Amino acid sequence: AMKQRLLVVANRLPVSAVRRGEDSWSLEISAGGLVSALLGVKDVDAKWIGWAGVNVPDEVGQRALTKALDEKRCIPVFLDEEIVHQYYNGYCNNILWPLFHYLGLPQEDRLATTRSFQSQFDAYKRANQMFADVVNQHYQEGDVVWCHDYHLMFLPKCLKEYNSRMKVGWFLHTPFPSSEIHRTLPSRSELLRSVLAADLVGFHTYDYARHFVSACTRILGLEGTPEGVEDQGRLTRVAAFPIGIDSDRFKRALDLPAVKEHINELTQRFAGRKVMLGVDRLDMIKGIPQKILAFEKFLEENPTWRDKVVLLQIAVPTRTDVPEYQKLTSQVHEIVGRINGRFGTLTAVPIHHLDRSLDFHALCALYAVTDVALVTSLRDGMNLVSYEFVACQGDKKGVLILSEFAGAAQSLGAGALLVNPWNITEVAASIGQALNMPADEREKRHRHNYAHVTTHTAQDWAETFVSELNDTVVEAQLRT
Ligand code: UDP
Ligand code: G6P
Repeated sequence: AMKQRLLVVANRLPVSAVRRGEDSWSLEISAGGLVSALLGVKDVDAKWIGWAGVNVPDEVGQRALTKALDEKRCIPVFLDEEIVHQYYNGYCNNILWPLFHYLGLPQEDRLATTRSFQSQFDAYKRANQMFADVVNQHYQEGDVVWCHDYHLMFLPKCLKEYNSRMKVGWFLHTPFPSSEIHRTLPSRSELLRSVLAADLVGFHTYDYARHFVSACTRILGLEGTPEGVEDQGRLTRVAAFPIGIDSDRFKRALDLPAVKEHINELTQRFAGRKVMLGVDRLDMIKGIPQKILAFEKFLEENPTWRDKVVLLQIAVPTRTDVPEYQKLTSQVHEIVGRINGRFGTLTAVPIHHLDRSLDFHALCALYAVTDVALVTSLRDGMNLVSYEFVACQGDKKGVLILSEFAGAAQSLGAGALLVNPWNITEVAASIGQALNMPADEREKRHRHNYAHVTTHTAQDWAETFVSELNDTVVEAQLRT
């Protein structure tokens, strides 16, 4: 039988384009958990459809970029500046993103956001239609179309309007909030109805799936069943598919000479000090200020540790055109500066804060030399950084401090030290506990996490979702 083709549709392509000349482009790996996870999926005949992260107004540029992307099995959706402003910066990242993470609308411009809501939602629908048009141009009978994330909640409906027999799945990489939160969205019903057009709807955790089903029952008045949501005899299957990573890729990287050398360098640089690590996109959901304040409190209360521990915080710039993210950047810089001024010496500072991304090998080396990883997300769909850290700790068996509000808390909860990131006193105490933890306890906790991370891979996740989607479609056909 011919192998089934998979069309993966996500706002963000796995590579982002940088223009080098009129018709020349270079491609860089995009940051973020969605891309990392999907890059970990092998052996499927997949094509990607999405935005390359740049505005390409001219036809020469579009043609050249399309060609460059084709070699990576990627197909571009071209979004102009106005659409990016209203759809990506506006509706997706200023409204849906904070709301789905229980942060509410940005404090200062709540009214402005309320006023611009309708025009941004219109742009969101237009953008989703543009993605649908590209899918349609490339769709072949029998393909599976897998739509990803909060950017594309309107897409399943657009696709099914083209072709009701298309196999359509939709997966959310963020939390789905309580129906009481979703209820405040002016577009609450339209969004739910368009997602329900899909055959299969997936979430990272059972809680998110349950929130989605109750939003459908309470807001739309539909029937929720253990299988999903029913509307006049038609079932949309809803289920949890926790994502994972390609742990072998990390283990292999640690064996490379270049990475080993990097590990040696880092070990020497921080000799005599314990290394604590944070790796996050510079996003308000990551609780970076909370993490740094907890570290300050720890230093305050534990003078003997002051010259024996260092916090390395990698803060990858993200969504820099959204004002809320700009504010966060300066806020974090201010706190870091203050703490380094307070506890630094002429030769050492307690916090190394980097506003940039790292390449894969540098990141693996950092994970490997870390004694304590600190993940303090205020909410997080899953959080793959915690998985990647565990995968790189085969030798060291360091401690993971993990927010109970990350999806990963449900899988790594027994091995990690779980914390409420809003409780700085508790996080500071956990830092102490982690730094002082005896080797046998560290080993036991690590073993638990490691077993999970190496057996629940990105590959399994994708295979399970796609096969469940195929089954769902077959069952639906049998029912009618
Ligand atoms: N990452 C990256 N560039 C970096 C540092 C990290 O692309 O400089 C990756 C990291 O390896 C991880 C992803 O970004 O795979 C972050 O995923 P996570 O689920 O933790 O959070 P998200 O960014 O999706 O909210
Ligand atoms: C999260 C979202 C992804 C997104 C990533 C990076 O992981 O779930 O959909 O791609 O953040 O954000 P960006 O806005 O740069 O795509």
